[in-house]
Amino acid sequence: MAFQVFRAFCVFLVLQPFAVKSLKLEILENLERVQKGEIGNGVYQVKKYLKIYGYYPHDTKHAVLDDHFDDKLEDALKAYQQYYSLNVTGKVDSDTIKAMATPRCGVPDVIRKRTWKGTVGTFQLVSNYSFTGGKWFNYNLTYNIQNATRGFTVKELRPVIAQALQTWAAVSPFKFTEETQAKANINIGFFPKDHGDGFPFKDITLAHAFPPRDGRFHFYEKWNWSLSKPASDQIHVKSIAVHEFGHTIGLGHSNISKAIMFPTYNPGTIKTDLDQDDIDGLKDLYGY
Ligand SMILES: *[C@@H]1O[C@H](CO)[C@@H](O)[C@H](O)[C@H]1NC(C)=O
Ligand SMILES: *[C@@H]1O[C@H](CO)[C@@H](O)[C@H](O)[C@H]1NC(C)=O
Ligand SMILES: *[C@@H]1O[C@H](CO)[C@@H](O)[C@H](O)[C@H]1NC(C)=O
Ligand SMILES: *[C@@H]1O[C@H](CO)[C@@H](O)[C@H](O)[C@H]1NC(C)=O
Ligand SMILES: *[C@@H]1O[C@H](CO)[C@@H](O)[C@H](O)[C@H]1NC(C)=O
Ligand SMILES: *[C@@H]1O[C@H](CO)[C@@H](O)[C@H](O)[C@H]1NC(C)=O
Ligand SMILES: [Zn+2]
Ligand SMILES: [Zn+2]
Repeated sequence: MAFQVFRAFCVFLVLQPFAVKSLKLEILENLERVQKGEIGNGVYQVKKYLKIYGYYPHDTKHAVLDDHFDDKLEDALKAYQQYYSLNVTGKVDSDTIKAMATPRCGVPDVIRKRTWKGTVGTFQLVSNYSFTGGKWFNYNLTYNIQNATRGFTVKELRPVIAQALQTWAAVSPFKFTEETQAKANINIGFFPKDHGDGFPFKDITLAHAFPPRDGRFHFYEKWNWSLSKPASDQIHVKSIAVHEFGHTIGLGHSNISKAIMFPTYNPGTIKTDLDQDDIDGLKDLYGY
């Protein structure tokens, strides 16, 4: 079942976050030097990060999380570097570390069923967009805004959420109607790190949303969220909302950096337009 695929990957979200700030400089230098076959202090954290975000697609049960720089890590690093348009070195270079420290969505990048083919080590993507697994049975969905966070009220948030949903409705048969009281198809709110759904937020996580037909949509409240033009340390609500609603209706991540379904987001920026890749992905999923 599709949701189980999502869970299989998300189970690893409960692991400790990989935060570049927590890595001492000498560990970073050490990581750049460590060669395949060697043992290096901090390799473990890189493995953990790649595991959490889906880069061990053939090894969901027991990726060996130790400091040994093995063949599988090299493969996972190359897949990660390809996805993020970095030099595909298979090494933990400084650009790779920087990419890993960028704030991002909590949903893993790679769902093996749809985006990967071949055997261990080939890591061949077959499309740019991807799917989380799961579809809605009809296009008419309701949503509910549970709460807001520091700086704005639910009333102020309401039009921003409506616009984010309208972005998808404008290019698809979907229609979204706000439901103010009862349980809606989609339930949106701001949540603390640990919020009881089994997927506590990591340091670099902005938000996450569950695939169809779950409908849970959680923003991480620790960030400074902004409804209007964000300052350099603020997160633009609508930009993240459009991305997460993509998950809500069944899209996974895309490796096209201008796609709304690209996993990372730079604080202080606005990105609310769909790319053709996003539109094509949804059309492919529902076949309309
Ligand atoms: C990739 O490698 C080339 C040659 O080593 C270097 O000039 C370039 O800056 C690198 N690009 C990135 C994105 O790291
Ligand atoms: C995304 O993946 C596709 C399929 O492998 C590939 O053709 C494309 O070059 C990738 N795009 C980027 C920006 O890496
Ligand atoms: C992936 O995106 C690239 C760049 O936008 C495009 O040239 C290519 O045709 C796309 N591939 C697929 C399989 O959609
Ligand atoms: C969609 O659902 C809303 C809320 O339940 C309802 O008011 C509306 O009539 C429905 N529209 C269609 C086309 O079914
Ligand atoms: C929003 O509601 C949820 C669920 O009741 C709660 O856990 C969370 O703390 C609330 N967030 C804020 C910012 O009040
Ligand atoms: C939020 O803004 C406050 C005040 O400007 C700042 O001290 C804090 O570090 C910011 N928090 C984050 C997570 O960026
Ligand atoms: Zn995402
Ligand atoms: Zn959650």
